[in-house]
Amino acid sequence: MKAVTVVPGDATSLRLEEVAEPEPGADELLLTMLMAGICGTDHEILEGDIGYPAPGRDRLVLGHEALGQVSTAPEGSDFSPGDLVAPIVRRPDPVPCANCAVGEWDMCRNGRFTEAGIRGLDGYTAQELSLPAEFAVKVSPDLGYLGVLVEPASVVAKAWEHILHIGSRGHWSANRVLVTGAGPIGLLATLFATRLGVEVHVLDRATDGPKPGLVGDLGALYHNEGLERIGEQFDVVLECTGDFDLVMAVPAVTGPNGIVCLAGVTDEGHQVVVNSDLARNLVLENRTVFGTVNGNRRHYEEAARVLAHTDQTWLGQVVNRRIPLDDWKEAYTRHPDDVKTVIQFLPPKGGVPAQPARGDSPDAPS
Ligand code: BGC
Repeated sequence: MKAVTVVPGDATSLRLEEVAEPEPGADELLLTMLMAGICGTDHEILEGDIGYPAPGRDRLVLGHEALGQVSTAPEGSDFSPGDLVAPIVRRPDPVPCANCAVGEWDMCRNGRFTEAGIRGLDGYTAQELSLPAEFAVKVSPDLGYLGVLVEPASVVAKAWEHILHIGSRGHWSANRVLVTGAGPIGLLATLFATRLGVEVHVLDRATDGPKPGLVGDLGALYHNEGLERIGEQFDVVLECTGDFDLVMAVPAVTGPNGIVCLAGVTDEGHQVVVNSDLARNLVLENRTVFGTVNGNRRHYEEAARVLAHTDQTWLGQVVNRRIPLDDWKEAYTRHPDDVKTVIQFLPPKGGVPAQPARGDSPDAPS
C-alpha cells in the first residue's frame, strides 16, 4: 500500500512510497483510509522543523487528521465493518503519568506521550491503518467525508471546555468573544462560539477569498482592519494565529475577568519588548492567559457530535481543497484561498458514504 512519508529533520525527504500493509493485532481495527487533512503541523514536519519517527525507524508516515472506514473489527468491540472512524492522535506515555493513566493524555505531565504522524508513531496518510479500537472515535455516517474535521474540531472542543472551566471560577459569561485567525482552527472555534448564542468577532488578514463569507455565514462579525480597530472588553479571546505580536497584544482587549486562550503555536525564539502594564492588568482585573494543545477521547466525541449537528454546506466549504492521492504533492503546496486541504484516497473499498449530498465542491474528485 502507499503512504506519504518523511524523514523528520530533512526538508527534502517527503515522498509517496510503498510500505508494508498493516497487520491488525487482537485489539485493533483495520481501517481503509478515506481522507487525511493537512495542517500547519504537517508543514512544520515536512519543512524539517519538528517531529521524530518511531524508535528504530528513519521515516515517519505523515498525517494526524484523518477519516477511515472499518474493514475488520475485533470480535466484541463497539465497531463493525463499514463504520466511519476518526483516529485519535495522541497516545499515553508509557509510565503512565497521573493524567495519561486516566485517559487525560492531552494533559501529559512527563512529555513521553507519542503523537501519530508527529512524534514517535506513524501517522494516517496511508491507504490502510491498523488502529487500537480504544483510539478510534465513531463518526456519524451523515457527516460522511466531513468527519476528517473531527481532529481539528477536537482541539477546539478542548479549548472551549477549558475556557468555560476557567470562567466558572466566578460569575462570568462568554458574552463577547474574539477569535483571531480564520484558518480551520479559528473557523471551528468560531463555530463552537456561535453555538453559545453570543456576540462573536473574528479577526484575520484576508480581505477576500472564502474566509469573510464563512465567518458571516455563522453569524459572526468579520474584521481585517487590525486589533486596535475592533474594540475591547472581550470576555474571551481565542488566539488561533500563533503570531507573537498578536499573542502579546490580545490580553489588552479583554474585559475584567477576561480569558485569553492560546491555541496557535508561536515560532521559537522571537523577542518583543513588553510593557509591564500587561502583567499589572492581568492581576488587577483577574485576567487569565492559558495555552491548550491536543484533545482526549472526550473532546473527539464532543467534536464528532457538534460537527454532526452543523450545516454540512458550511463544513463542505471549510474542506475547500480535495486532492486525490496520485496528486499528493499538490496537496502540500499552499494556495492563498486554502482553508482545509485534504488528500482523498481513491477508491474507498466497498462503497462509502464519502460525499455528503450538499456542500460538495464542484472540482471534487469523483
Ligand atoms: C495537532 C495536535 C498536536 C499538536 C502538537 C496539532 O496540529 O492537532 O493533536 O498535539 O499539533 O503536535
